[in-house]
Amino acid sequence: MGNKELFDVAAHTYNTPERAKVADAVAEAIRACVKGHSIDASSKTALDYGCGTGLVGLRLLGLFKEVLLMDASPNMVDQARTAIAAIQTSGAAHARVLCGDIMDASPVGLCVDYVVVVQVLLHERDTRGLVSRLRSVLRPGGHLMIVDFDKNERVSSQKVHPGFERGELTALVESEGFSLARLETCYSAKQLFMNQDATLFLLDAVKMSSMDKDDACRAEKPH
Ligand SMILES: C[S@@+](CC[C@H](N)C(=O)[O-])C[C@H]1O[C@@H](n2cnc3c(N)ncnc32)[C@H](O)[C@@H]1O
Repeated sequence: MGNKELFDVAAHTYNTPERAKVADAVAEAIRACVKGHSIDASSKTALDYGCGTGLVGLRLLGLFKEVLLMDASPNMVDQARTAIAAIQTSGAAHARVLCGDIMDASPVGLCVDYVVVVQVLLHERDTRGLVSRLRSVLRPGGHLMIVDFDKNERVSSQKVHPGFERGELTALVESEGFSLARLETCYSAKQLFMNQDATLFLLDAVKMSSMDKDDACRAEKPH
């Protein structure tokens, strides 16, 4: 899993009208969720992990002080970089890109207020490991926002998870030191996931403080 090579090959044809439509709905759901936090998000930093071409992260530029777009696929990151260069507004100054896999190494010194991770968990074999790594780059009180597919028994592949059962993922996230803030459906469509009708959920969880010495952000004050 990870599928970095597949995404490297697909990067230059990844953006389609259908994917843009999904990104519109997902970004809107994230915006609405962040507004519900009753904080000034314009002073907050966000990491769009597994950003792909930046379809979701770049739609969040006006919301946060800064959005870091990170992906393991160099070609996806190149597409995101090109998309940022094409932005005509001052929003481009609030975006940064980074190529890497947090499962190999966490970016040194990275501590953000929000992590959004959209349709990425399904590509990572070690779900718990990825949640744990993403937690380590969040400030205490920061939000992990997971958007992924509901479990679909008809999906059977060596390359991706068949989606996630909401209760099981919530339990996993809570056992990794988060508190569930919100869980809702954010998009449904026909033939959305491996040619199956599918639903995307948004899970919003808050990082509880920790004493874990491997947690580089544990002593970081919330902004
Ligand atoms: C289905 S695409 C989603 C892209 C984007 N989040 C969106 O919603 O348009 C999955 C992305 O996750 C990236 N990815 C998969 N596993 C990853 C990992 N372990 N670390 C970083 N990126 C990963 C892939 O390279 C790919 O760009």
